[in-house]
Amino acid sequence: MSAQLSHAEKLSFIHDGYIVIKQAVAEDVVNDARKLVQSYLPEHERRLLVPPELATHPDILALFRQSRAADILRSEMGPFPDVVSCQVAVTPAGDTLGGDPSPHVDGSWSGKIPASATEIEPGRGRPRDAARYFGENDDKRGDNDGQLWIDPDRRLSIGSYTALVGVALNDQLLPGCGQLGVLRGMHEPVQACFRRQRAAGGVIGPEGPDWPRIKATPGGRTYCNGLPDTIRELARERAAGAKKIEGWPWPELTPVLLARGDAVIAMHSCPHTPTPNHGREARMNVYFRIRRLRPENPHEGSRRVGHGVNDHPDRGYFGQFLEYPETYDPWQTSIEKMCDHWSEWDGLKSLAVGVDSEGG
Ligand SMILES: [Fe+2]
Repeated sequence: MSAQLSHAEKLSFIHDGYIVIKQAVAEDVVNDARKLVQSYLPEHERRLLVPPELATHPDILALFRQSRAADILRSEMGPFPDVVSCQVAVTPAGDTLGGDPSPHVDGSWSGKIPASATEIEPGRGRPRDAARYFGENDDKRGDNDGQLWIDPDRRLSIGSYTALVGVALNDQLLPGCGQLGVLRGMHEPVQACFRRQRAAGGVIGPEGPDWPRIKATPGGRTYCNGLPDTIRELARERAAGAKKIEGWPWPELTPVLLARGDAVIAMHSCPHTPTPNHGREARMNVYFRIRRLRPENPHEGSRRVGHGVNDHPDRGYFGQFLEYPETYDPWQTSIEKMCDHWSEWDGLKSLAVGVDSEGG
């Protein structure tokens, strides 16, 4: 099978911000990984707490290392450090994930937040009593390994990578059985938002222009806001009039339909979310977060970074600040890549130029 995308596939990826690779992983590799994940699945638990040995197990990492998705990334994106870990994401049958899906761009903090809207500053969306939630100096770590700030100067509040690769260990062809949902085509408006934040001299990410970190629903429920303000609205407008999908009540979201052994490749800037699983079997996906090699970065390939699982690879996986030489500014490099996301795709950047202006 080809390690490259066809011309039509390239255009589709550039337009949508994600693409499905059919039969990306050989059957025996999928079967071995599936058996291993199942051996860790507790009978009646709603969620799987993945033991670290599973996320770093060679049989699980083989889902990426031996996949056609890895070959495609090598030719369409470029070189990348070895993948040493991943996210095993299981949504048990019947798990509704507590309500509506919340599409987001990976890499921002999600920790304990105030319970009431009145406790949140409008604009940046910080708690009025910030020290209580963020620490004296915004120094507390979040839950989900997200960091409040990616850089010590607090100009970047979102981690980033180049591509999310998800490999399906079960069939997910019928909408409503826990598929990954994406805001198709919204990767360009997300990039446009990063560019506006940069042009305004503001923070890039949550707390920057037009991106309150914490918000409240009209009903008063507070939440960590995973998307710039305009994105959800724009996605809804674009979806208006779209054909209704049976069993899928979120018109702005596109279900990523995968068969066992298929993979999805999505841009970091393509908003995504897990969705409720109304199916009869557990939804099992394994996710790899891949960042194109940055040869000037002395920490490429270091195990502390946890390449494959880390969504903020300019800091260590556990949030530790890494030492950088004066000649390399990892934060500015990431800002530049987020504001020009096709620059990280050797095989696509020239083709993407025409589509790029669409984000506005
Ligand atoms: Fe995510």
